[in-house]
Amino acid sequence: MIVFFSGTGNTKMAAQMIAELTGDRLLDLGAAYKAGDFDIHVTQGEDLGIVFPVYRWSTPRIVDEFFRKASFVTNDGKAFAPGYSYAVDVYGYFPGAEVKYLEKLMSSRFGISFDATFEVPSVANCIYVSNPPRAERQKEQIAKEAETVIDVARAVSLHSNRREAKGNLLGQLLSKATGTEEKPRPINQFRVDLTRCVSCSTCEKLCPTNTIVMENGHPAWQGGDCTECLACVHLCPAEAIDYGSISKGRRRYANPLLKTDKKEHESVGI
Ligand SMILES: Cc1cc2nc3c(=O)[nH]c(=O)nc-3n(C[C@H](O)[C@H](O)[C@H](O)COP(=O)(O)O)c2cc1C
Ligand code: SF4
Ligand code: SF4
Repeated sequence: MIVFFSGTGNTKMAAQMIAELTGDRLLDLGAAYKAGDFDIHVTQGEDLGIVFPVYRWSTPRIVDEFFRKASFVTNDGKAFAPGYSYAVDVYGYFPGAEVKYLEKLMSSRFGISFDATFEVPSVANCIYVSNPPRAERQKEQIAKEAETVIDVARAVSLHSNRREAKGNLLGQLLSKATGTEEKPRPINQFRVDLTRCVSCSTCEKLCPTNTIVMENGHPAWQGGDCTECLACVHLCPAEAIDYGSISKGRRRYANPLLKTDKKEHESVGI
């Protein structure tokens, strides 16, 4: 089983490619979280892969919360012991110690440590840090992501013990500050331009944490559960949502998979 979380599709692309190349099946953590379904049905001894985007040199809040609440439900009723387990982080700038953080959580919660770990470069979508790249650069970066993922999938198929997710020095240092239990919940940053919003409810449907509710035909952000995936900002078809004022005039980004896969991603919530 490959458990993945994705906001703007880069991680979904990686997880789907690994699933296709290894013949494994997928669990969309965002869709499960949105539905409040924390049971992970597994066959004893099957492979377990966790594929996630790097946020602030750590794991996304939703990934932490999901695994804190989740239970592995096995076919033999015994505690789940995967035959082979691995983690893949998908990053946009540079990685840190996020895999180490996730491993600590998986080890303390389920006694699972990873046999292999990988880092995959992708397109940076953090619109309050940088303007997402131009289309041509996006294509190059997605091609690089695909090339790296093919190599990762080969290693996974061979049950390799490559432990490659180490981050760079700066990332590791930054992880010390950000790899904490409490992660940002930035709902007061979101702004909707009512003159642009077409009341389509896409933002409400795609929000994995049910933070967005439609009020009088427009989105409102509520509760403390936002995972900062920025899917609402990037995927609003009218580009009506901003993150403070810093995202104004910046490009919106979605992995091409989400454009070709619109029906499916709407139904699963990303
Ligand atoms: C809130 C936030 C924080 C991020 N922090 C980092 C980071 O610390 N290091 C990094 O390399 N990329 C960072 N990124 C970029 C994402 O990891 C990258 O764009 C990833 O491909 C997004 O995956 P997705 O398309 O599946 O959502 C961040 C993105 C967001 C939204
Ligand atoms: S996705 Fe955009 S246009 Fe649609 S309801 Fe939300 S803010 Fe309005
Ligand atoms: S409110 Fe926006 S950024 Fe926060 S979890 Fe929902 S879709 Fe993601």
